[in-house]
Amino acid sequence: MLAVQADNTEVTTLEGLTGLGELSVIQEAFMEEYGFQCGFCTPGMILVTKALLDENPNPTVDEIEQALEGNLCRCTGYEQIIESVLRAADLGRKQRAR
Ligand code: FES
Repeated sequence: MLAVQADNTEVTTLEGLTGLGELSVIQEAFMEEYGFQCGFCTPGMILVTKALLDENPNPTVDEIEQALEGNLCRCTGYEQIIESVLRAADLGRKQRAR
């Protein structure tokens, strides 16, 4: 989206997901499942994952692929990213169950 389209809206960056020095469950999941290589696409992938899981905490692989389709990754081939999103959903369920 163009920056002007975000006028008068709230924007959350990767740094806004948690406090200083903390990792979100999504970041943990991407680390555990090797959901990145060079890391160039990773902030976008993580923020798309956050938006997806906020709306749908139990996405299917098809729903994950659909959510990620606007983000390009030149390194991973997407399999590890999809595994990371599934792992983040699982970690989120466990966190809510506590
Ligand atoms: S990890 Fe390199 S572009 Fe996605």
